[in-house]
Amino acid sequence: PADNLRRRATEKAKADDDVRPEETLSPAETQRLLHELRVHQIELEMQNEELRQAQVDLEASRARYFDLYDLAPIGYVTVSDKGMILEANLAAANLLGVERRSLAGQPLTRFIVVDDQDIYYRHRRQLFETGAPQACELRMLRADAAPFWARLNATAAQDVDGAPVCRVVMADITERKQAEAALRESEERLRQVEKMDAIGQLAGGIAHDFNNQLTGVLGYADLLYDRLDDVRLKRYAENIRTAARRSADLTAKLLAFARKGQYLSVPVDMHHLVAEAVAILQHSIDKRIHLELLLRANATVVTGDPSQLENALLNLGLNARDAMPDGGTLTFETQVAYLDAATCAKHPGELQPGDYLQLTVTDTGHGMSDEVKQHLFEPFFTTKPVGKGTGMGLAAVYGTIGNHRGAITASSTVGCGTTFTIYLPLDKKSARPSTPDSDVTAPTLAKLRVLVVDDEGLVRDLVSEILRNDGHTVTTAANGREALDIYRQHWQELDLVILDMVMPVLDGRDTFRGMKAINPGVRALLSSGFSVDNEAKAILNEGALGFVGKPFRRHELMTLIAQVTKTER
Ligand SMILES: Nc1ncnc2c1ncn2[C@@H]1O[C@H](COP(=O)(O)OP(=O)(O)OP(=O)(O)O)[C@@H](O)[C@H]1O
Ligand SMILES: [Mg+2]
Repeated sequence: PADNLRRRATEKAKADDDVRPEETLSPAETQRLLHELRVHQIELEMQNEELRQAQVDLEASRARYFDLYDLAPIGYVTVSDKGMILEANLAAANLLGVERRSLAGQPLTRFIVVDDQDIYYRHRRQLFETGAPQACELRMLRADAAPFWARLNATAAQDVDGAPVCRVVMADITERKQAEAALRESEERLRQVEKMDAIGQLAGGIAHDFNNQLTGVLGYADLLYDRLDDVRLKRYAENIRTAARRSADLTAKLLAFARKGQYLSVPVDMHHLVAEAVAILQHSIDKRIHLELLLRANATVVTGDPSQLENALLNLGLNARDAMPDGGTLTFETQVAYLDAATCAKHPGELQPGDYLQLTVTDTGHGMSDEVKQHLFEPFFTTKPVGKGTGMGLAAVYGTIGNHRGAITASSTVGCGTTFTIYLPLDKKSARPSTPDSDVTAPTLAKLRVLVVDDEGLVRDLVSEILRNDGHTVTTAANGREALDIYRQHWQELDLVILDMVMPVLDGRDTFRGMKAINPGVRALLSSGFSVDNEAKAILNEGALGFVGKPFRRHELMTLIAQVTKTER
């Protein structure tokens, strides 16, 4: 360039010479001019050097700019006030999955998910109206890939011609959004579990107290029925019994929901149980409903209470029936599923990683809305007309499955059908399975001497009455301390203690321990308005002989007494 410049300068000088008339200069003048020229030349060379240096600096700064802008690990886009992309860096092109040169001239909205474009428009208007920096989060489109979450930070600026533009910094925040969503989901799950626990506490408390009263109502109705000869009066007693039994069914479901419904902890073959439930269902459902069994699990034994589990299956089956008034298909399907820690964490409850029996109950019924799905397992939630449903079915199922350290989920499509999936931990030992006992009639017993301990007078009197009617001798105590006093004095004359679990002064556990201290061979039956909980299990482990849940019927009590006295003697 310098040579070029010189050539052009020479030509220009020649042109000047042409127009200027010939002048003669004195030697002194020539000398001066020559000096001036030299100075001028040096000056020019210095300027030239400066320019070259500026050129080098410019190159360096251009390289730095390329590093900072083009190769920055974050997207930069400049957008005109009309929303057209003016320039973009490589990271931006990368984020959007296109060639950088294809970006200029396109509207930025082309890369924003339609539903989120309003957010962008709003912020752009704000930016150009107020000049205040803007920030927003929205979903953007990437060529050949799923949309991603982006955070846009925009500032107002001017281009070289002074036209307003907006400079946008664009970052992919998909991972953060996913983490946030996962957190929200797990919080919601926790909230749901806590809510169900709280309702469970309440339901359990009510059911417990109610059962005490029901034991009285049912028991005395039984006694009345046995004693009355008048047919009409007998029918009244029968009606009381029926009403009380219905109430007892309801409290049993409440207890099941409160996870206090498990009476037993024995090996249960689920295939056997499914077959039994299906046999029962076959009698009570429409012939237009086709029953299908796909029993694929090769391990089928879980630990728990067979009658509670069977009730759960029946509840699901009856719900499916109700969802298919015009017929359809009801499928029970089993398989073994390994649940890893991540899957366990997704379910409410305390699932541990391991092998589970996965049982699905699927219908082709009317399905349910999201609203229904949300409240499905809550007690007393029903969409059925008054008198048709209590809303306790699934609440009981939920409690039962939770109590078996399992999980239950529902998925449904309106108009297509519903699938309930149950996971129950498989029994590793796979011990001998058992199935629910059929009703046994009370056998006759040797005459026993029994101490009945219960803080509820009604129950105390009823149990005494039942036992005395059968010829047994009964002593009663209204609390644990009183019971211990009596036991200390008379333990040698007592064959059996029937001990309430929840009592003021001294509860069932401490009373049992006190009795064991007096007589290590004490024979005691536990009774409670709750069912076998950890407390009861602990006492059973310490040597109590059995457990009877309230409200109990005469023959239940007598059967249990017969069993424990038989095995003991
Ligand atoms: N298989 C299903 N298909 C469609 N909706 C269902 C299904 N199972 C349950 N539901 C919905 O869930 C609600 C609650 O069921 P749940 O078994 O707890 O009570 P219910 O069946 O209404 O009454 P109950 O079982 O006490 O007779 C039902 O009213 C129904 O709306
Ligand atoms: Mg139901």
